[in-house]
Amino acid sequence: MLKVEPLDATHDRAGFDCGAEPLNRYLQQVARQHIAKGVSKTFVLVEEKALAPKPILGFFTISLCQVFGEQVPAKWSKKLPEQIPAMRLGRLAVALDHQGSGLGKALLVEALFRIARVAEVAGGIGLFVDAKNEAAAAFYARFGFLSTPSGPLTLFMPAETIRQFASCATALMSRR
Ligand SMILES: CC(C)(COP(=O)(O)OP(=O)(O)OC[C@H]1O[C@@H](n2cnc3c(N)ncnc32)[C@H](O)[C@@H]1OP(=O)(O)O)[C@@H](O)C(=O)NCCC(=O)NCCS
Repeated sequence: MLKVEPLDATHDRAGFDCGAEPLNRYLQQVARQHIAKGVSKTFVLVEEKALAPKPILGFFTISLCQVFGEQVPAKWSKKLPEQIPAMRLGRLAVALDHQGSGLGKALLVEALFRIARVAEVAGGIGLFVDAKNEAAAAFYARFGFLSTPSGPLTLFMPAETIRQFASCATALMSRR
């Protein structure tokens, strides 16, 4: 069994390699500082029974953010204040030897559940993602993320879509 948990000192950050050096470096050198300072939260996917140092199969980082109206797709940007609260999925990556087996999708679903909880208690127009390159943008677009005026590597999912996704998924799981 796999589980997602907050990154901490029991995880083997040095052993993680997703093939993208900036993402590896972020996990190894920055993520825990950002957690400590309240900048963002990083969650890791591990084997439930793994012992420390636990191998990291994948991770994602979420944070709060503020955007301006011109960064929001037109359909969602009407009648908003000048500065608009939102959430950001800054990073998401799967270890090279586990890519292509559904873990990226599973991490994205986990991130959306967490974002839905944030939106429920604090609002936020939706989730922006920063894709590393066009292939990563295609990965997000596959799951319904929309293009934004900021460029091809910034995508957006409205809070209402995330809320609907989380409530449908919860209803489906409770029927199992
Ligand atoms: C992009 C990444 C997170 C995908 O994770 P993964 O575990 O390999 O992807 P999955 O196996 O969960 O694939 C889920 C679906 O997305 C598709 N997909 C995967 N990578 C894709 C890509 N680059 N472009 C388009 N679709 C992609 C898969 O075909 C699969 O489709 P299916 O549901 O119809 O089978 C992973 O390849 C990775 O970590 N890459 C390096 C870091 C990176 O680019 N991160 C992106 C955010 S900056």
